[in-house]
Amino acid sequence: MDLSIVSRSYSVLHGCLQHGLNRVPSRKEIEYLGKTVNHHISRSLPVGEIITTDLARVRSLNLLAREIIERDVPGEIAELGVYRGDFARRISSLFPYRRFYLFDTFEGFDARDIALESEQKQKTRYGDFSRVSVKSVLSKIPYPDQCVVKKGYFPESLDGLEETFSFVSLDTDLFKPTYEGLCYFYPRLSPGGYMMVHDYAPARYHGVKKAVRQFSEEFKVPYIPLSDMNGSVVFSR
Ligand SMILES: C[S@@+](CC[C@H](N)C(=O)[O-])C[C@H]1O[C@@H](n2cnc3c(N)ncnc32)[C@H](O)[C@@H]1O
Repeated sequence: MDLSIVSRSYSVLHGCLQHGLNRVPSRKEIEYLGKTVNHHISRSLPVGEIITTDLARVRSLNLLAREIIERDVPGEIAELGVYRGDFARRISSLFPYRRFYLFDTFEGFDARDIALESEQKQKTRYGDFSRVSVKSVLSKIPYPDQCVVKKGYFPESLDGLEETFSFVSLDTDLFKPTYEGLCYFYPRLSPGGYMMVHDYAPARYHGVKKAVRQFSEEFKVPYIPLSDMNGSVVFSR
């Protein structure tokens, strides 16, 4: 299914309601309404909010968390690629009693990873994820006392960490940290645990798809694509 059509139809429907249209809109009206609403959404919400108002992504997270809690799956939780903590705060709210490892440079992408992406001739423009502070991330996390901030370049930031996990979110946009993240976290996932990898589907993040497929083929581990906005995939054990 073409997700852009779903998102556009959703925007148009919203537009119709906002503009009080109670008949089927014409093609021109559809274009106008779609543009107006998209413009309105992108002006009124900060970037992080647009990302986390991806309801399919958030609902998938909720469902996976519920499975882990109801089935009493042991293990801590982690996110690699936290940025401003918008998805992390949702993860934290679902796991009040588990330690939450937050991995990020908190200074944006590392040149070593980007160099590798361009070697693979990826025609991608990367966002600037450097303007963040750990303090502001922690201020929006519901259970900050459970957080262990692992600031620095992953996998160096692991610093010998040995832990078992029940839920992990990987959201780095790039090939190398995604692949390294899968190699580190998957063997440490408890049976019944889940890993969500964001940005599998868009052509823009072709390194993420490459990492997921390479890991899956090398280690014979299956994954399931989701129909959220950027096409996450889920690994389970
Ligand atoms: C797309 S943002 C994360 C967005 C966040 N998960 C959300 O949904 O709001 C990607 C983050 O990955 C981090 N990152 C990428 N490569 C990394 C690496 N090798 N080590 C640590 N952090 C990395 C970047 O600093 C950036 O903050």
